[in-house]
Parts: sequence; structure tokens; C-alpha cells
Amino acid sequence: MLPPRIATLLDHISRQIASNQPERSEHQHRIPVEYYFSSAQYEAEKSTLFSRYPLIVAHSSDLKSGTAIAHDAYGVPLLLTRDADGVVHCFLNVCRHRGMRLFDDQTATARQGVACPYHGWSYHLDGKFRHMLKADAFDACPAGERDLVTVPCAERAGLIWVIPSPNSTMNLDEYLGDLPAELNYYDVAEHVTYRVVENHYAANWKLIVDAFLEAYHIRVLHRDTIHPFFMDGINSGGQMPRSGTNEAQGPHFSSMVARRPAQEWQGQGSLSPKNHHELRELVTPSHAIFPNTIAIYHPDYVSLISLFPTGAESLRWVHRMLIPKEKATPEWQPHWEKTFELIEKGVFQKEDIHTAVGIQRGLRTGANAYLTVGRVEAPLADFHREVQAAIASVS
Ligand code: FES
Ligand SMILES: [Fe+2]
Repeated sequence: MLPPRIATLLDHISRQIASNQPERSEHQHRIPVEYYFSSAQYEAEKSTLFSRYPLIVAHSSDLKSGTAIAHDAYGVPLLLTRDADGVVHCFLNVCRHRGMRLFDDQTATARQGVACPYHGWSYHLDGKFRHMLKADAFDACPAGERDLVTVPCAERAGLIWVIPSPNSTMNLDEYLGDLPAELNYYDVAEHVTYRVVENHYAANWKLIVDAFLEAYHIRVLHRDTIHPFFMDGINSGGQMPRSGTNEAQGPHFSSMVARRPAQEWQGQGSLSPKNHHELRELVTPSHAIFPNTIAIYHPDYVSLISLFPTGAESLRWVHRMLIPKEKATPEWQPHWEKTFELIEKGVFQKEDIHTAVGIQRGLRTGANAYLTVGRVEAPLADFHREVQAAIASVS
């Protein structure tokens, strides 16, 4: 069964094909150029979105039982672990003795616990203090006082979220609303990471999110790469409902772009895919998971892209290619290799990222006081409104 929101989007696609009338929103919008370079904007985003919001740090397959990973991309040194019972934890990556960084590996390594490289204080993977040398040199202390400092962390539908600030509480289910049901529909938890690419670019992180919130550019920018697979101008999407409501708009976006076979299916009656594999022949769905992660459901794999601001005008791009577990075998390797090169280098780097960097170079010239968002690009305006609302709500 299609999740309700996905069924609605597909119905919109179907009606557009039937009537040959692409959808238009009511208004055009303007985005002030300062949103992409002002240091006040950047600081406000850092102290709200990137320190008080649930943020994705890993795919579940990146952290097997009995392993740990260091994660620094949100500006706070974090240590992610999965204990022997399979429970995921997050801690400040800081020793409780004299504060040394405990752990450096960015890819998961199997271990019983974590030992500090300075004087050897050690901790279990659930963060409990384990052992110190020359214990008689230290006063007794209340139970738990030497345990690692916990950071809110939870796993849903194949992804791991944290709020990168200790002493905060995370209402993840309320924040995510229907998103986990859609992630489950696409079997995100049944995938494994095939490859991760990380790069730094001279662009504001929101310019990359913008690139994945509209399909208007596919015909021109992607003319020689992916455009031939898609129907021009037939797409649908927008904000998902806030948790527990049908109408109010939540911060996450669910969208889809029609692929060529949709036309033929429509001609034979209706668009009624039996499962997500069939759906993904007809449309390419995507999520913009607020604030900084994009998931694209290609026909046979998933691109999970996270954007980490490193300055007002710079970002770190992390693209994780997720493949179905059953196809993570040597026979499939050449296929994934070719596919990854094509999408990461050919489409993302040469086209989408190249464009974001190109826009950034001209933003301060005064050519535009604002960027214009047409009636076929409305989710961009909604995304920026969510960002500004998030900043305003805590300032
Ligand atoms: S700082 Fe970690 S054991 Fe001393
Ligand atoms: Fe694009």
C-alpha cells in the first residue's frame, strides 16, 4: 500500500499527465541574497538549526553492533557507538579525566569499549566508566560521575539522528511525523552504504538544498545526463504534514518527478504501482529531511546527501550511496561503480554543485537583491520560510 502522502503526490502527477497541464503554485516568491552569505544568518543557523534540531549523523548500516565512529561535522566532537545489544548511543568525544579526545576513526571499527589515548581511562560502549590505572590516586565519586556525557540520539527507519548538544531533549517522533513511514516504504533500513564521498565547496549549504527542491532545471542543466529519463515539467511535492495533523505544514518535504514510463502507464489506464520498485520506474521520489539532508530514491539505489555548513559561504558535501542489502555482492560491484561515477561526478559535481558554486560567486555583486522563485519552484520558498521561522522561534 502506498503511504497516503505518496499516493496523493502520485495522483497529482497522474492528473497533470492526463490534462497535459503542469501544476503551478499561486505566487512567485523572492529570497533575499543575504540568506546565502550574511554572517548573522550563518551564526543564527548554527545556534538553532545545527545545535537544537535533530540532525542525521549516519545510516544504520554504518554502525554495526560493537563498533564506534567519531563524528565532527556539526562542530561538536561526537562519539557514536552501538553496544552489543544493538542500541545506538552518542556521547561527547571527550575523556572525563583531563578532557582528551577519545576516538578518531571516522569509519566504524569493532571494539569492546573505548580507551583514552592519554592515560588509558576506559569506557564501555554504553558510555559507562570502565577502568582507570592507579585508581587509588583518585577520590571516590558518586556512581555515574565518570561516565561519558550523553548526547540525545535515536534511530528510526534506518537513519540515526542526534541533537549535537548535551542537556537537550529530543522529541524525534513528533519532529519526524510521517517521515519514518515513508522511509520504511522505501526500505531505507534494508540498505547498506556502498560508498561515501566527501568534498568541500565554496557555496552556502542552502543552495544545494534549493537544487533538490525543484525540477524546473532538469531540462536545461541536466540536458545531456538525466533529462532523457524524465517528463518535462511533470512533478509534484511539498511540505509533509506536521505530526498528528493533516493540514499544518511540517519542516520535511516529500516530492516526486515523473519519469518517461509514467506516460505509457497513464495511457494504459492509471498509475498504480504495486510496490516501491514499480513506483520508482514511474517517478523519482525524494525527501528533503529538514534541515540538511536529501534522500533521492533512484530506480535501484538511494542517494543520501548531507550538507554541513563550514562557514557562511562554504559547505561540506557528504554523499552516501545506499544499495539494497541483497545486491551488495561482487557481481553487482561493476554496476554500482559505474552508477556512482555517473551520479556523483557527472550529475552532482559537474551540474548541481557546479551551479551552487556559480551562484555563490555572483551573490555579493549586487546584480540581484533577491533570487526569484517562480510558480514551478514553490518548495524552495517554503524551505527558506521554515529556516527563517526556526531561527525566529528561538531568538
Ligand atoms: S585525559 Fe583521558 S585518561 Fe587522562
Ligand atoms: Fe539537479
